[in-house]
Amino acid sequence: AVRYKTHIVDHFRVASYAFAFDIDGVIVKGPETIPYAKQALKMLNGENKYNIRVPYIFVTNGGGRPESERAKELSSRLECEITEDQVIQGHTPMKDLVAIYDNVLVIGGVGDKCRKVAEGYGFKNVFIPLDVMYWNPSVTPYYTLTEEDKEFCKKDVDFSKTKIEAILVFADSRNWAADQQIILELLMSKKGVMGTVSETFDEGPAIYFAHSDFIWATNYKLSRYGMGALQVSIAALYREHTGKELKVTRFGKPQRGTFKYAEKVLMNWRQDVLEEHVEELTSAATSDVSAEEEDEEEEQILSFKPSSKKPEKPTQPKKGVFNETDSEDSDDEDEGLTIQKLSQLTLDLPPASTVYFVGDTPESDIRFANSHDESWHSILVKTGVYQEGTVPKYQPKHTCDNVLEAVKYAIEREH
Ligand code: G3P
Ligand code: MG
Repeated sequence: AVRYKTHIVDHFRVASYAFAFDIDGVIVKGPETIPYAKQALKMLNGENKYNIRVPYIFVTNGGGRPESERAKELSSRLECEITEDQVIQGHTPMKDLVAIYDNVLVIGGVGDKCRKVAEGYGFKNVFIPLDVMYWNPSVTPYYTLTEEDKEFCKKDVDFSKTKIEAILVFADSRNWAADQQIILELLMSKKGVMGTVSETFDEGPAIYFAHSDFIWATNYKLSRYGMGALQVSIAALYREHTGKELKVTRFGKPQRGTFKYAEKVLMNWRQDVLEEHVEELTSAATSDVSAEEEDEEEEQILSFKPSSKKPEKPTQPKKGVFNETDSEDSDDEDEGLTIQKLSQLTLDLPPASTVYFVGDTPESDIRFANSHDESWHSILVKTGVYQEGTVPKYQPKHTCDNVLEAVKYAIEREH
């Protein structure tokens, strides 16, 4: 087996801890990018005094466009590469509903973007409120379709003969009045058919919300109503009309389903980061073999070419870092990591030692990070919904000014 000298360990630096970021109010505020965010990610990408890469993902309740598009936008705003595998939006876990429903009505977002997202997830027949309004404009007496709206419509659907099985609220509604009119009619219908009224109000479509944020942070000075507020409104109208409580299924933060999903995504992403790093090390070490060494025996020790980004001082293996001491069968201190050991490590990746979750909304972010697993460490920042001087409904493990302070705090805590 090809073997490395011990000092390779100093260069094998991927953190055993990880980060998960909320987006609105932490990384961006509407069209503005929060200025500290770029520097914060630079630090996690290796520009820190420990020369360590820290894996991270984003868990936002926002949505309305494909994860790939969101990743692209974040990459350009933050000037670093972010892939779709790092982005979980409120509606991302709704992918799991594809096998259950054929006909779905998707609410929210601009134009027919959410239809495209749902189709991308694999949903078969995806309708949007504009299709219903095109079918029968009298459904929404105070809204007339514009020519632009009509471009997004499916024009050949007869909703008096179509059974909508589920309503999926993917993103914030751009037209509360029209959307609520259609949603409520369907909830109270006979099996999701427009123009019908159930006698029992228990046969309409199921309704799912991508999240329940009552308010959220934009670039306006006060927070704005979010999807949670729409949920409250629909439930109140439903109760008023039927005398019954509306049953809804919620995704997003702080729901457990989203937490499980986030853990899976984070595990995969950490694995990718680690494997990429192992590949870099392997090719750096292999390219350093001199011609004569190549002819020598199998157990040849290779020298590892130190990267230009050297740690400030030679470091001992430390907590918070994947290194040979993390591998139980590390029996050869002098010889260090073998390629075999490195791949073993990537195959048997343990869960992150700590996941730092940085958010701005106590009710969704801090509650999310505090509720499901003790290894998650909640950090509340002051750049979004939470306002200094108020008492957060859910107590974070740490509070700081902004995302850069959060990253600095966590890295120092780990080393
Ligand atoms: O609609 C988006 C909003 O409610 C929250 O997004 O990134 O703060 O979870 P985020
Ligand atoms: Mg937020």
